Amino acid sequence: MLIKPDGVKRNLIGEIISFYERKNLKIIGIKMLEANIHTVEEHYIEHEGRVYYKDLINYLTEGPIVAMVVQGENAIKAVRKINGCTDPLEADMGSIRGRYALAKQRNLVHSSDSEISAQREVNLWFPEMIV
Ligand code: PPS
Repeated sequence: MLIKPDGVKRNLIGEIISFYERKNLKIIGIKMLEANIHTVEEHYIEHEGRVYYKDLINYLTEGPIVAMVVQGENAIKAVRKINGCTDPLEADMGSIRGRYALAKQRNLVHSSDSEISAQREVNLWFPEMIV
């Protein structure tokens, strides 16, 4: 999962991590970085061509982000539930997006939506990690 630049800028790193840890998920990899534009383009390759694609790339490269590998039972489903719907106004108020975000364009966090995308994204952001 990724904490997007607004999450870092708003000092929400600890708050966001604590959502996962309190659910008994384990952070087995974590790094803060200024994302390289090519890495972000690769990360969102399936959205290439969509109207918001450029904005999305600009958003993810506007400042430091935090990349994490979260492990645990049903981790993919659990993290997506904790993050809340893409549109924060439709997200459960107990979720990260529901509680802290206002717009789809600045929705604070990203998480993998399947095992295949998780594997791909871990390889992309943590090439040194063997999972
Ligand atoms: S889904 O579930 O993948 O189909 O969601 P989708 O709505 O297609 O969104 C895919 C990712 O694009 C982001 N997004 C946007 N970014 C900027 N501007 C606009 N208008 C916009 N609409 C969607 C959305 O947050 C998803 O990114 P991630 O990081 O996966 O949440």
